[in-house]
Amino acid sequence: MKSPEELTSPVPQPGNIYADLAAYYDQFCAEVDYAEQCAFAARVFTLFTTSSKRDYLDLACGTGQHLQLMQAYDFVPSGLDNSAFMLAKAAERCPSAQLLLCDLAAFEQVEAFDLVTCFLYSIHYSHPLAAVTETLRRTWQALKPGGIFIFNAVDARGIRNDSGITTQLTDGGAQLSFQSSWYYRGEGEVLDLTLSIRRESATGSEHWSDHHTMTAVTLPQLMVMLENIGFEVTMLEHDYSVMSAWNRESFNAIFIACKPPAIP
Ligand SMILES: C[S@@+](CC[C@H](N)C(=O)[O-])C[C@H]1O[C@@H](n2cnc3c(N)ncnc32)[C@H](O)[C@@H]1O
Repeated sequence: MKSPEELTSPVPQPGNIYADLAAYYDQFCAEVDYAEQCAFAARVFTLFTTSSKRDYLDLACGTGQHLQLMQAYDFVPSGLDNSAFMLAKAAERCPSAQLLLCDLAAFEQVEAFDLVTCFLYSIHYSHPLAAVTETLRRTWQALKPGGIFIFNAVDARGIRNDSGITTQLTDGGAQLSFQSSWYYRGEGEVLDLTLSIRRESATGSEHWSDHHTMTAVTLPQLMVMLENIGFEVTMLEHDYSVMSAWNRESFNAIFIACKPPAIP
């Protein structure tokens, strides 16, 4: 992990980007409404399951924002991430959570959770497409009968290569600018992610950037992958403040994938 003073490399770093990013991640996501996402997940859980228990796993949990907030809805949190640096932040934020250092496509829990989530398009970090299928299959295995999986996804055909997200913050006397953008070549299963941080202060300007390969997929393709595993799938518009059916045209959606209850 680098200190702000070490944010000097314009050259993409090999390895896990989130090792370098962990110290800045919460600032990077300052505009993400985690409370709204958690309220949404709790509402969906109440509507889509009859489960009386609330054992909860967040895939690609990052610094544990969802783990902490879901406790207010009586969920018992567990988090999985492949970055030890991100998990260290999650442990500080949510000391009661069980944390698992593991790849999305490699966890082995069986019928352990009533709710599994994967927010901020993190399902696309499973790469290549075969790994996404494996992640979905393992999620099925990890859910109790009647449990649900909530995640958001983007359709590769809707990626706008000229757009990105920029967050600007002031940190003491310095101006920090965080930028993330996707690039899709128009075919194939590679979705490029570029992240960068720029820090401007009286002493000068520093820049860090990195690249990561994610998986490009279409929303109908994801729906078929889930259904082939056995999930009952509902797709919603990508708006956590409401709950409205996917209009079949937008390129972002929230998936509610239900594992049917056991037949008595
Ligand atoms: C965009 S962050 C999302 C974090 C959190 N879900 C949130 O909403 O703030 C993506 C997270 O996925 C983790 N990650 C990336 N690839 C992964 C993989 N193959 N297996 C497990 N975790 C992964 C990263 O370490 C990072 O914490």
